[in-house]
Amino acid sequence: MDRVLSYIESHRDQAIEGLKDFLRIPSVSTHPHHKADVSRCAGFLADELRRIGMKRVNIAPTAGHPIVYAEWLEAPGQPTVLMYGHYDVQPAEPFELWESEPFEPTIRGDNLFARGSTDDKGQVWLHVKALEAHLAQHGRLPVNVKMLIEGEEEVASAHLETYIETHKEELEADVVMVSDTTMYDYERPSIGYGLRGLVYMEIQIEGPNKDLHSGGYGGSVANPLNVISDIIAQLIDQNGRITIPGFYDHIVPLTDTERTAFAALPFSEATFAERLGVAELKGEEGYSTLERIWARPTLDVNGLMGGFTGEGSKTVIASKGMAKISMRLVPDQDPEIIAETFEAYVRTLAPPSVKINFLRHGTGKPILTPRNHPAVKAADYAISQGFGIAPVYIREGGSIPVVATFQERLGLPTVLMGFGLPDCDAHAPNEKFNLQNFFRGIKSAAWFYAEYGKNNT
Ligand code: BES
Ligand code: MN
Ligand code: MN
Repeated sequence: MDRVLSYIESHRDQAIEGLKDFLRIPSVSTHPHHKADVSRCAGFLADELRRIGMKRVNIAPTAGHPIVYAEWLEAPGQPTVLMYGHYDVQPAEPFELWESEPFEPTIRGDNLFARGSTDDKGQVWLHVKALEAHLAQHGRLPVNVKMLIEGEEEVASAHLETYIETHKEELEADVVMVSDTTMYDYERPSIGYGLRGLVYMEIQIEGPNKDLHSGGYGGSVANPLNVISDIIAQLIDQNGRITIPGFYDHIVPLTDTERTAFAALPFSEATFAERLGVAELKGEEGYSTLERIWARPTLDVNGLMGGFTGEGSKTVIASKGMAKISMRLVPDQDPEIIAETFEAYVRTLAPPSVKINFLRHGTGKPILTPRNHPAVKAADYAISQGFGIAPVYIREGGSIPVVATFQERLGLPTVLMGFGLPDCDAHAPNEKFNLQNFFRGIKSAAWFYAEYGKNNT
């Protein structure tokens, strides 16, 4: 490892410059007008993988955005790591809130600011740099490596499942390595062992066949926007519990051990609230904030639209309205069942005079990943080397739908070795990646491949 580590040290500038080029490509998967940029980004990544010496580098077209695959399989008798990540990013809007251009990566202080810097281009890049260091110094890798970097994670991996189904042999491996999560805090690197699932619903409500004068007609018909608010208000009760029948039925309860472990992590409600500019924290009764984020399901309105929202006032009853609602799920809630129960329940809450239409956007299953797999032990050792401090074990509030697919379709466990920080502002303006953590991440990844190759039983 000495030579690998010195390569990483002496190539810091190149690592940053390469990442900047990667970040300059606006690979926003949800915007159709960025389709060519997303493809260009896949090409850029594939070129780099070829350059560092990965084999069979391939850009696989899908019905959506392409998947980048690469492998290096010249370590017979050694285990195979399937490294997964995504090169697509969330939209950068609202642009006016960015201090520097979202697609012109800029270093300020210890951070590199750009859309995708943490989520997930920076974290993909740190693996590429770790593999490059091994290949450049030793002409080989300590384990077999397959890479699967998709361009649709931020739109719920629409076409990845089909790819996995049809490429089972290509993707055979011992474990999946994912760096797309966050550390507990700056002092505490982390290994994740759980992700929440997701159901994302859109409710469209239609009332009268046209907008109405709110004086001439107000009081005579159900107002679609009143109806939508009324429905939303009934979805969560006084205690922060979701009222959908059966919603909590299949949840695996938190164990005492787990609750104790969460409680042992340093956490200040006051600091957390202050950082978010709120007077107090709020959520489901009977659970701590960490439990609420990591291990309890939630229901949140993500968007609401309808009626007159311009300046000033206009007295009108809108003919329709809509709401976008996400539910984060925990093991073993089933997204399909939750979506169906949600629809049936919402229908019962609306008066017969309005028409309701539902759209289901992305869904993803919640998952817990093993904590005693040899690859987790290797990751633990690797982080201890890369950061000089042992990792803490945490669950994550976010979702990476494909992790459950790897488990179900390929029988593969996943190691979540994430290097983001809670305040990295992923999905928000001024997303940033801490550069110190970027380099510690490269070293940790390099140590991971070495250690898993050494000690894999
Ligand atoms: N990297 C995140 C997932 C994540 C966020 C894990 C925070 C742990 C902590 C991923 O890119 C993401 O944003 N996922 C989406 C999934 C959705 C689009 C299906 C999410 O969680 O909203
Ligand atoms: Mn991500
Ligand atoms: Mn994301």
